[in-house]
Amino acid sequence: MSPSKEESILRQLDGAIRQPRAGKLLTAPLLPIIIAVFTIALAVFQEPSDVPPWAFPGSPKDSAGVDSTRLHHIPNSEARFTLRQAIDRFAPPDWHPSGHPPMPDVVAHGRRADLFACAYSHLPNGTGRPENAALAGLPEGYIIAQLADFRSSARKNPLPGWIPGNSMHAVAMSATEADVASAARYFSRLRFTPQVRVIEAARIPRMREAAFVYARIPGAGTEPIGSRIVEGPPDFERHELRDDAMTYVAYVPPGSIKRGRSIATKGTNGLATACVTCHGKNLVGTGLIPPLAGRYPTYIVRQLIAFKTGARSTPASQPMQPVVARLTVADMIAVAAYAGSLAPAHHSR
Ligand code: HEC
Repeated sequence: MSPSKEESILRQLDGAIRQPRAGKLLTAPLLPIIIAVFTIALAVFQEPSDVPPWAFPGSPKDSAGVDSTRLHHIPNSEARFTLRQAIDRFAPPDWHPSGHPPMPDVVAHGRRADLFACAYSHLPNGTGRPENAALAGLPEGYIIAQLADFRSSARKNPLPGWIPGNSMHAVAMSATEADVASAARYFSRLRFTPQVRVIEAARIPRMREAAFVYARIPGAGTEPIGSRIVEGPPDFERHELRDDAMTYVAYVPPGSIKRGRSIATKGTNGLATACVTCHGKNLVGTGLIPPLAGRYPTYIVRQLIAFKTGARSTPASQPMQPVVARLTVADMIAVAAYAGSLAPAHHSR
């Protein structure tokens, strides 16, 4: 149940109670029935296999507030790009060319019409953004296998129609084996530096969905976080400009990190194999099992949802099935918050 849904139900309830005419005569006897109906509705919507809408922010007003023709700059870069250049799917900006090895052509440019440059979404240094994935330091064989899974649709978009997921599918359909091999080689060799700060807070700045993340609404005060992760850039303009050195902020409910640590290291709800058994100490990954430490928490939640709903049901991901069967959405939030809060200092790849 998203807080907005909850809020709208509460508002309706509130309205029912305060109906001026229906007044005391009608509303009072109906109230227990109304409450019962909403309680059942809440229980149904809270079904853990539901896809929580907050993990899939949309893009109602893309680029709002960023001037498209002016030359922009960002901290610690000599480069200058217009917004139009910054959103070029076939020549995305490289603000820090000395910060990574030369990019293969598929990473820097891709190919028209559907093979967007990998760096458009995952950025030249492979840190990605909360609406996609950080690829830096993932095992080469794992990246190759994921592309094959997207291609065969064994790995699907957990929320059909959500644009970032659909774009990845289109890319996988257009990429050749050689494209995939050179991109996987490039990203797997990049050193991963986490670019997310996980902050526990009961109240958070009021945000809006923008460009598939959450952006602050200036001067709009705060709101309760509820049971969700709200992840976005501290500076929306730098997000739109594809600044690959910016650290995102993921707000999580108070207590998430501690609870997540317990789930990751000891298991939960009868889950015998804790996450660290397979994903390694401090969740830095082992063999082809991917690292989770320092990765974007909403990305992690989306994957757990995908395993649970069957959207990601590849043979290689079968070990995740008994795991997600025991996780509620609240558990997923906690464990993703914990994983996101870890810096992979012990990463040896
Ligand atoms: C029994 C082994 C095992 C356990 C226990 C396990 N995992 Fe996994 N996990 C895997 C494997 C294997 C994959 C890779 C699936 C693939 O190749 O598609 C994976 C993939 C993932 C992914 C996808 C990562 C990405 O980059 O897309 C996430 C997220 C994840 N696991 C989270 C967890 C969490 C959280 C826990 C504990 C609650 C956990 N896993 C416990 C084996 C395990």
